[in-house]
Amino acid sequence: MDLQPILDGIADKIGPHLSEGRVADYIPALARVEREQFGMAVITCKGETAQTGAADTVFSIQSISKVFTLTMALGKIGNDLWERVGREPSGSAFNSIIQLEREHGIPRNPLINAGAIVVTDVILSNRADPGGRGSGEAGIDAIREILDFMRSTAHDETIAIDREVAESEAAHGFRNASLANFMKSFGNMENSVERALRVYFHQCAIAMSCKQLARAGLFLAADGRDPISGKRIVTPSRARRINAIMLTCGHYDASGDFAFKVGLPGKSGVGGGILCIVPDIAALAVWSPGLNKNGNSHAGTLALEMLARETGWSIF
Ligand code: DON
Repeated sequence: MDLQPILDGIADKIGPHLSEGRVADYIPALARVEREQFGMAVITCKGETAQTGAADTVFSIQSISKVFTLTMALGKIGNDLWERVGREPSGSAFNSIIQLEREHGIPRNPLINAGAIVVTDVILSNRADPGGRGSGEAGIDAIREILDFMRSTAHDETIAIDREVAESEAAHGFRNASLANFMKSFGNMENSVERALRVYFHQCAIAMSCKQLARAGLFLAADGRDPISGKRIVTPSRARRINAIMLTCGHYDASGDFAFKVGLPGKSGVGGGILCIVPDIAALAVWSPGLNKNGNSHAGTLALEMLARETGWSIF
């Protein structure tokens, strides 16, 4: 299949929709991003690539980082993770607190904010000590480990954290602080709330392009093994399970709608990015900063609908 004309066609058709969404404004540094931008990149398991628009422009990956921290935490403590976080869709907003009390501080899944903060807490408690090369400060070492993981899966050492975004979120992160404190009160946080949030805000502030993100997610399209380098990252069954969680939980209370319209595992971020996996075929990423009411990229979702229709890609 010749992907390039399909992507270029989507870029043409998406133009009128770029002004329809609203840029995330609860993180001031994100509110300054120009809304009318669009990029898309696809990389297949055979190594073919296609891209259109601003596919090389870096943006804040935000919640897309949760897929990678979930992968890391499962690698560290395996199925014990499921004692601290569930794997059911929440049916509520990404930063909702209401279920947490009823469910005794155990977040519904690792892709809502509360669940991702627990996952980050697991990484902090079980961080690697690379032969004493770490800084000795737990938070800095965990941030470094997460950044290194993104760089290694994307095969790109230039990937960096946007400190301004991390600080901007930290200065306004009252909701996440509430979620973390609430979980701490239920005994579901091992580290201090301040330290866990610091790491969490930095992982969300990693800046990547569509091209880098698609490359980083490719192992999830290939049974857990990077099909280009041959390096195994997770087992086939774990890759399938991460994809299952992306499908059922990756778009919060719009996960059902995304499965209905696009039919692929996907993870969104309030920076306007979406990572999507086509098992056995490709990984792709789309970016457009205008968000819909659920906090997912408006034009990005439309573009993925078009792509799924035109390629026939679907897990169903
Ligand atoms: O914690 C937050 O609110 C942000 N750092 C991430 C939220 C997010 O990306 C939700 N995604 N659509």
